[in-house]
Parts: sequence; structure tokens; C-alpha cells
Amino acid sequence: LIQLAQRMTRVQASAIREILKVTERPEVLSFAGGLPAPEAFPAEALARAHADVLASEPGPALQYGPTEGHAPLRAWVAERMTRRGLPAAPEQVLITAGSQQGIDLVGKALIDPGDTVLVEAPSYLAALQCFSTYEARLETVETDDDGMRIEALERALRACRPRLIYLVPTFQNPRGTTLPLERRLAIARIAAEHGVAVLEDDPYGELRYRGGALPPIAGLIPEAPVIHLGSFSKTLAPGLRLGYAVADERTIRALTIAKQATDLHTGSLAQRAVARLLETFDFDAHLRRLRTLYGERLDAMLASIERSFPPGTAWTRPEGGLFVWVRLPGGIDAEELLADAMQQRVAFVPGAPFYPDRPCVESLRLNFSNRPPPLIAEGMARLGACAAARLRERRLGDGVASGVAG
Ligand SMILES: Cc1ncc(COP(=O)(O)O)c(C=O)c1O
Repeated sequence: LIQLAQRMTRVQASAIREILKVTERPEVLSFAGGLPAPEAFPAEALARAHADVLASEPGPALQYGPTEGHAPLRAWVAERMTRRGLPAAPEQVLITAGSQQGIDLVGKALIDPGDTVLVEAPSYLAALQCFSTYEARLETVETDDDGMRIEALERALRACRPRLIYLVPTFQNPRGTTLPLERRLAIARIAAEHGVAVLEDDPYGELRYRGGALPPIAGLIPEAPVIHLGSFSKTLAPGLRLGYAVADERTIRALTIAKQATDLHTGSLAQRAVARLLETFDFDAHLRRLRTLYGERLDAMLASIERSFPPGTAWTRPEGGLFVWVRLPGGIDAEELLADAMQQRVAFVPGAPFYPDRPCVESLRLNFSNRPPPLIAEGMARLGACAAARLRERRLGDGVASGVAG
């Protein structure tokens, strides 16, 4: 038996990735994974860009490349982030293998064993898993329908000296909530005043279907120590594994050193193909199409939940992203509901694994980007019927129990 490092005893397999192995079978109507719509992948444009790059620059496209990333791609990211409210030079950009690698590199470069990381509850599971691997202590900060609560954050900062505050401020995974401007400013101010680093994880910021865009926290107060992470996973395709970190040059240098030991660099071919694609492809027109497609799916999801779930169900109403968060009525346990739902060949992710502590077991996450509206309606009808049946059963059980007691 090969002996594993002590730290592996602190890290559990992702409950969600385990669930996805079952729910993503073809016969299941799944709302579990955070999957973009495959029909929206710009497959032809990507095929052309790969072919172009392989024909015109086969050497560098297939050769080792710099750890920092392909220069034209770094320049494109810097320019776009500047336009979105985070002024950045290309030297402030590191190209990563998805934003997931950005989270991991930040963990590697910033966290010493025993350090505290403040996180939202619930939060993105794979980030919690990553911080645990680096032997962090996770402390939760209360959230409401507008994301992280500032009084709760200030209370947490008085109680401990965290190394890092991690949050997904825009269309959060799993709840879909968005931090308003005042709270973004408050967090930037807190980071600057306390000298506490903030990791702003933003894979969904460009997927807004209603309401006005909000600036990244990282762009609000220049001296605030904020690292911004972005991704091409949800705007182009997740299989490319392309993301980026934006921060001050010293931090980018540290993340680059951390990355050298991880994978030397992100794949040259994918970076060059995407850089080539972005030269000619109308990325903004592509985003407009995605926003229309996903906006319709979000509307279908919200209307179907309203129509199909039993009274007392509560849910978030996101303005973008990929997820809606549901709270079931009458103390229904979402893991039990998943067992019923799988019998009806419909799936979702129960909410409990998203909490580092004290889970809300009545909660669940629904993805709406991966199925067209008629299938969303069908899936929610099946799921709502399962929830209603569970609720009736519980009420009957309660009635019998109180009848016996009385
Ligand atoms: C909040 C959040 N961060 C990071 C990621 C990782 O995305 P990727 O590595 O594909 O960019 C995801 C993926 O779903 C996510 O939801």
C-alpha cells in the first residue's frame, strides 16, 4: 500500500464530481453539472483557428512556451479587463489552465498550513477542496441574496487574521447571487485597510442576461491586494482549459513560479489558436448570442420552478451565470430528493457539499445552461412532483406522529 501525505486525510473527493458520474449518464435529464450548451461552442471557428495556427506557426504551436503565457493572449486579456474596469498591463496577466488552476496557484503561493481563508457559505466546492489541500482553516462568512455580508466579514476579521478572502462576486456558484457595487467597494476598502488579500473568482462575469454590468473588485481601489481570476470556459469552451489571473506584477511573478513547478506552461496550441480566433472572430457578437440563449433558459427555469414546485419553495433569481439555488419546503432533505429524482431520471446537485460547515440540507443547485426550455420544463415538472410527494409524505408522517402523541 502506498502511503499518502498527511494532508490527503484532510481532503475529500469532490462529492459533486462523484454525483456527476451518475447524473451525467445519457438517459438522465440532468441539471447537475455546470455545463455550457455544447451547441453554442464556436466549433467551426475554433477548428479554423487551430488549422491556421498549425499551418502557419507549427513550430511554436507545438513547442514548449513561456510559463506566463502566449504574449498576444496576455495582451488581449489585459485590454479586455481594462475595458471591463480593471486597468491591467500584459505583464499583470498570467495564462492558466482554466481558472481552477488560478485558484490552486493562489493556494500554493499564498497559504501556509494553518492559515485561515474566509469563504462564502455556500461556496464553490473545488475552491474549498483546493484550500484544504494547502492545509488552510476555512471560516465561513454569512451571505444573503446579495452575496457576502459586510458586517459578517468585518466580524470575521475581528475574530481571526485571515490570509485570504475568497469569493465569487458575480453570479456565484452555487447560488447565482451578485455582490452590489457598495459591497464591492467595501471589500476593496477592507482589503486595502487590513492588508488582507482577496481572491475574486469570476468565470461568469460576462454572462449577464439582465441588469447593468458591475466592475470587478480588483479594479476599484488600486492599492487593494486583489487577485482577479477569469476563464474562457464559459465564454468559449471548457475543454480548452484556458483561464487567466490578473494581479500586480509581483504577485503574478509568484504565481508564475508556482506554475513552473505545476505544469511549466498552459498548452501552446490552445493558447495560440484562441489568440488567433480572437483576432478575427466577433467575440462580443458571440457573447450576445450566448446571453440570448442562456437568458431564455434562465427564464424557462424560473417559470418552471414557479409552476412545478410545491408552495413554500424559495429560490434565487440570478441576473446571469449558470445556476439557480433552491430551498425546499417542510424540511425535505435534498439528498433524499435526489434518490427519488434519479428514479424519474432527472438530476441536480444537493446543496450540502457546498458548505464547509453546517450545511443547509434542504438546498439544491440547478444548472439551466445545458438544456433547451422544453426539457427544462419537463425536468422541473418531474422534480417538482418528486418534491410534492416528499412533502405529502412528511406531512402525513407528522400528522400520524402528532395523532399518536395527542
Ligand atoms: C466559481 C468557479 N470558479 C472556477 C471554476 C473553474 O472553471 P475553469 O477552470 O473551467 O475556468 C468554476 C467552474 O465551474 C467555477 O464555478
